[in-house]
Amino acid sequence: MTSVTPADVVGRLTIEQKARLVGGASYWTTTELPDVPAAYLADGPHGVRRLDPANGAVAGAEPATCFPPAVALGATFDTALAERVGAAIGAEARERDVGVVLGPGVNVKRSPLCGRNFEYVSEDPLLGGRIGAALVRGIQSAGVGACVKHFVANDQETERLRVSADIDERTLREVHLRPFQHVVTEARPWTVMSSYNRVNGTYVGEDARLLTGVLRDEWGFDGLVMSDWVAVHDRVAALRAGLDLEMPAPGEARVGQIVEAIRSGELAEDDLDRAAGRVVALSRKIRDTTTPSDATDLVDHHDLAREAAAHAIVLLRNEPVGDTDADTAAPLLPLASNARVAVVGELARTPRYQGAGSSQVVPTRLDDALTALTADFPDVAFAPGYALGPDAGDDTALAAEAVAEASDADVVLFFAGLPDDAEAEGRDRTHIDLPPVQVDLLESVLDVNPRMVVVLSNGSVVRLPFADRVPALVEGWLLGQAGGSAVADVLTGRVNPSGRLSETIPHRLADTPAYLDFPGEGLHVRYAEGVFVGHRWYDARDLDVAFPFGHGLSYTTFGYDGLTTATHHDELRVTLTVTNTGDVPGREVVQCYLGRDESAVARPPRVLAAFGVVELEPGESRRVELTVPAADLAHWSVREDAWTTEGGTWRVEVGASSRDIRLTGEAEITGDDAVRPITAGSTLREAIADPTVGPLVAGALTGMSEDVREMALAIPVGRMPFVPDSGVSEEQLDELIALSDGSAGRLRRTAAKVLGSMARRRHGAS
Ligand code: BGC
Repeated sequence: MTSVTPADVVGRLTIEQKARLVGGASYWTTTELPDVPAAYLADGPHGVRRLDPANGAVAGAEPATCFPPAVALGATFDTALAERVGAAIGAEARERDVGVVLGPGVNVKRSPLCGRNFEYVSEDPLLGGRIGAALVRGIQSAGVGACVKHFVANDQETERLRVSADIDERTLREVHLRPFQHVVTEARPWTVMSSYNRVNGTYVGEDARLLTGVLRDEWGFDGLVMSDWVAVHDRVAALRAGLDLEMPAPGEARVGQIVEAIRSGELAEDDLDRAAGRVVALSRKIRDTTTPSDATDLVDHHDLAREAAAHAIVLLRNEPVGDTDADTAAPLLPLASNARVAVVGELARTPRYQGAGSSQVVPTRLDDALTALTADFPDVAFAPGYALGPDAGDDTALAAEAVAEASDADVVLFFAGLPDDAEAEGRDRTHIDLPPVQVDLLESVLDVNPRMVVVLSNGSVVRLPFADRVPALVEGWLLGQAGGSAVADVLTGRVNPSGRLSETIPHRLADTPAYLDFPGEGLHVRYAEGVFVGHRWYDARDLDVAFPFGHGLSYTTFGYDGLTTATHHDELRVTLTVTNTGDVPGREVVQCYLGRDESAVARPPRVLAAFGVVELEPGESRRVELTVPAADLAHWSVREDAWTTEGGTWRVEVGASSRDIRLTGEAEITGDDAVRPITAGSTLREAIADPTVGPLVAGALTGMSEDVREMALAIPVGRMPFVPDSGVSEEQLDELIALSDGSAGRLRRTAAKVLGSMARRRHGAS
């Protein structure tokens, strides 16, 4: 039997049929044609949101496991765990006849104000890329496509359908494209979603350089590019650029536009055929993938959601309390099993477990921390303390009741966090504060009982003005449907916390990297922080932060030693020994950062280059090897318009956070710094740095004073014939340019003349 290729299928279609095929047929389905089944596309990203195809609303989806959103998965730093979560989402999708899961989202969090940060993994491009790739591998292992989104630079909600993210090429490459590059090259997603916004003035959906040049030609992407919902501005330009599928259901008007563009010659039929072929290929890939035979087990998936949530919780602080002179002073966590516990805060009873907008999953069940804690402790008092919801304000009676309940408990568990309306798809925050009513109550309770553990629920970081006053502080993000049980697991010590901050907690909004450039003005937002996003910014500016990137405590302690580095042709290997030096089993997230003292480009002091999780029994030691692909050491050279690796000595730092470096070493890296030919535009400095020309020209500088030398070095050699009295003719200059490959004597004479005449002029002038 001869197989029918997508091109064969497309070859039999009329222009109208093809034009219809490159647009969706409903909110969630692609267009069906003979031999081309409709594909169902479902949000995503942290669970399956299957709705009736005609239902474009957020509500009304079939229940599915609500796994921890990306913000929490990022904090696990655990790619194996993310892959298992992906596989479970994929299995539920497959069972519901979903062909593509619309996620993960890997945009870089350049500001904590972005209303959709809960849907993104990290402020760090490597962490975002690695966790994103793991999710894609997992989802696709179930025979379902993933859709990595939102490609690219959709890092704010304000004016997301119109704003232009104005980004210099190095920043675009090294930061904002980077997580997508990891996902595409490491996990080969079936689809990519192009974002709403423009980049440097051009809609991403119409940007051939991004959609075809970078994504396909450079990274080798061979899947389908779909638009975000209602993102297409000019369909003809989008088809030319490489945007294959317009979603959701653009209708007959679009079909007419496409047909007309082909008839008038504005659009080549090949461009339409290519896009239609990719829709056919996706639809058949979904059809031809074998459905796994086992039904998914929602109980197992709930347990997995609980495990992932527990590993996402970050223990920020756990100071000893009690009589400070006595040996009895001990941290509050893990909680003593017989503790009389006062739980304060509505969020303990009514958990906020996911963010608002298109990613909302209808959970199969929902655990709250209050119920879980009540099962764990013999004596639990509860007071909501504050109300949630749009009308929540000061409620003196609620507050007074909470203060009274808390006053004589052994320990107060204070649940604070952002309400649903504080962060949502479609709008950005304007501040990073918790509701004042919660902070005021927290302070009042602290006054009567300082033995307090604060548990936070938030989709992006919040300011913690009380951090130094509370002995224990737990970052609980938005943890999905099993988050309540996971919080109890960590507070009781059933699970030893190992989550790490995937975003820095600053002291104040004004310290954050994009503070002066978010969300932009006049439909433009300048990415003026450049490559200094997230922790790179705070380190480069030497800014104190509340809690640094990568930070997270454990109920045990870990020792680091024995760092070695070795380079192989395509990677750097960093090896060290980690020992559990405490009394309980624990997981350590080992982080490797790289830096250089000398560089041709502005660099942050350290860049996250690799990370890994190691699980150790008390007293156990293990060698941990982290590898950094050589390609990850490259920076984007704007001059060369290419990736370039600087050779020489690189600093290797390994630690428990970006500001808790335990071991420092060095690695010798072979660079591929471009050797540029000497041209008329080269400066004398560059001529000196040239391996052939340099030794000859350097001699000519002897005896020149420092100030003259500096000025001379900055002059492009092509200007020399026009410097009065330089004595350099255009012919001589041509020789200088041509002779870098030989004729050393003549070159030396020319160079000496150039520099000598400059020195004379300088001395004569002074
Ligand atoms: C969001 C996407 C989502 C799509 C479908 C858009 O508004 O930006 O992330 O997948 O809607 O719900």
